[in-house]
Amino acid sequence: MVSIKLGAVSMDAPEDKLYFVSTDNRAIIINDDFLAINYIPENSINLIVTSPPYNVDIDYEGFRDDIPYDKYLEFTEKWLRKAYELLKPDGRMCLNLPIDKSKGRDGEGFQSVYADIVSIAKKVGFKYFSTIIWNEGNISRRTAWGSFASASAPYVIAPVEAIVLFYKKSWKRLSKGKSDITPDEFKEWTLGVWAFQGENPKKVGHPAPFPLELPRRCIKLFSYVGDIVLDPFVGSGTTVIAAYLLNRTGIGIDISRKYCETAKNRLIKEAKVNFNKILQY
Ligand SMILES: C[S@@+](CC[C@H](N)C(=O)[O-])C[C@H]1O[C@@H](n2cnc3c(N)ncnc32)[C@H](O)[C@@H]1O
Repeated sequence: MVSIKLGAVSMDAPEDKLYFVSTDNRAIIINDDFLAINYIPENSINLIVTSPPYNVDIDYEGFRDDIPYDKYLEFTEKWLRKAYELLKPDGRMCLNLPIDKSKGRDGEGFQSVYADIVSIAKKVGFKYFSTIIWNEGNISRRTAWGSFASASAPYVIAPVEAIVLFYKKSWKRLSKGKSDITPDEFKEWTLGVWAFQGENPKKVGHPAPFPLELPRRCIKLFSYVGDIVLDPFVGSGTTVIAAYLLNRTGIGIDISRKYCETAKNRLIKEAKVNFNKILQY
């Protein structure tokens, strides 16, 4: 076991799960199944920023992204319960989701993913705050028209995603802290339509990354300097990079060893993180 201080509490984590820990303990990458983790202390996390698997048949390393929709919703409920436990009473969650899904297993292609996940989150105990619409400006991904120029069976696709804001018990922070958001950023980002480009998967070495700008805005707007930020599906490490660069502590979990390695390399290159050699595998 390795003991890592997280604010007022300590996390005693099995050494073989800690893929990467910076020397200052502010960037932590864990290679594990989020559902199986029992060593992150409950009520210890200030902010969760994440984009879970969307179950749209993405070719991930190490798990299937095309399970039946009811099973996907069961998985969603399990991970949301876990996330809820880990948040502090005034903890918040920024959940990046598609509005809907129009591909996947035969016969269940069209699903209201956003609506279904929001209702599961509320059932689990999360309180809903509001939703930011992220305009990715990416219409090049469009490949299907259904019935082109005909009312027979046209497809309608919105090139936007949602960032849903939830909190555990109190939206207002229960203690004071230092904010680092500028007045201009605050004015722009509190208008709930964000427009910036998506990330290029080839550039970061992951099939479905979000751009650094997404966690950067969420972290500056919704957390204090020094807070603990968690991404239970960290992929290429984007949330932990943003947290580290903004002087927070970032904890990222991914079930895939390959993506943990990608995250580690990005942290070293893009955030100039120093690391503890003992924890390298
Ligand atoms: C949409 S991607 C996240 C991408 C990330 N936001 C980024 O910028 O690279 C979802 C990630 O969840 C991981 N994953 C899937 N099931 C998991 C589980 N049970 N526990 C932890 N990670 C899991 C996948 O390996 C994948 O990297």
